Amino acid sequence: MFDHAEYRDHESVHAFHDAATGLRALIAVHSTRLGPALGGCRLWHYEHEADALTDVLRLSRGMSLKNAMAELPIGGGKAVLLGPVAPEARRDAFLAFGSWVDSLGGRYQTAEDVGTSVADMQVVAERTRHVGGLAAGSGTVGGDPSPFTALGVLRGIEAAVRAKIKCDSLDGIRVAVQGLGHVGQYLCAELSARGARLVVSDVDPARVRKVCESFGAVPETPDRILAAEADVLAPCALGAVLNRRTITALRVPVVAGAANNQLADGNAGRLLHERGVLYAPDFVINAGGVISVAAEQAGESSLEQVLADIDRIDTRLTEIFERANQENRSTGVVAEDIAMTRIRAGKASTNAVATPARAAAHA
Ligand code: NAI
Repeated sequence: MFDHAEYRDHESVHAFHDAATGLRALIAVHSTRLGPALGGCRLWHYEHEADALTDVLRLSRGMSLKNAMAELPIGGGKAVLLGPVAPEARRDAFLAFGSWVDSLGGRYQTAEDVGTSVADMQVVAERTRHVGGLAAGSGTVGGDPSPFTALGVLRGIEAAVRAKIKCDSLDGIRVAVQGLGHVGQYLCAELSARGARLVVSDVDPARVRKVCESFGAVPETPDRILAAEADVLAPCALGAVLNRRTITALRVPVVAGAANNQLADGNAGRLLHERGVLYAPDFVINAGGVISVAAEQAGESSLEQVLADIDRIDTRLTEIFERANQENRSTGVVAEDIAMTRIRAGKASTNAVATPARAAAHA
């Protein structure tokens, strides 16, 4: 494991097994330099155990970068549960997971990710207090992070369209959305409300139908969505979708979406840069959900403050785009430099305009 290409600078990786349900899980703690490692819990059916290890390592490092970029006083970690979990064993499986999270004494804090829900996190909360994304009333802090993630992605798309297409409005802008799950559906609603024209795809035809009927979107097949002709491609399904083949086939000037780890490898960011495609680094644009969960965990009560923090994704991306342009480097490399500098310095914010709520959380 220590030789694994993705292990890099992880602090610890924990493996768990529950004899009663058969559940196996990995929790990776990439960094606690800025605070407890916060990152969601993914439930996925991995063909090989080694794939789960690769996934958790990539995702947990991504969380460190994301949380540092979002100027949050928290580190990065992630959990993966090796599915499938039978419906009748689901509650016991999440109770077991809650005990594992608790056994780490707060070094790792969990929340939802692909395959897990608010209801699952409520079960986890029966065994540990180190969990966020719990049910919240309308207008209060907390709850499903997906709408907050979608809002952040919307801000990122606005920033990218302004920078690349020189357009201040999304009215008439064509956005191709891959993946109509939790985030994808909320994102389509936000985009449609601003007059964007949607081309959408999902492997689940019912989700495609629903979004097409609700927002007048045009359906596209899963194998063609990445090459759809549009102004923006928003990957909102799984990671590693941008590789040499898909980048060569792109017919968009902007890639800006929610999926974690969109770049398949180190070359993908450079290829996008060389092709003149403006890429909004995933760990910057998709921070809305973790901003909400971190506020919930810190006991903050102002939803307005959370929304204002999410709005700042626009400014952050604009700065990254400008710096990448000036330095002729890819946006991903520029963003990673900023995040790693903050992590190494042990300071989430180098920004004098940290909000009062954030300052309190730091204290
Ligand atoms: P989800 O599981 O609810 O939705 C994913 C959707 O993608 C599903 O509808 C699935 O059918 C579809 N899909 C899978 N393969 C596909 C393919 N080849 N072509 C088209 N559609 C495909 O997941 P969720 O929560 O919406 O997250 C989406 C992405 O955003 C994930 O990569 C996740 O890690 C990332 N993300 C999610 C956050 C959240 O708040 N939910 C926060 C930050 C990142």
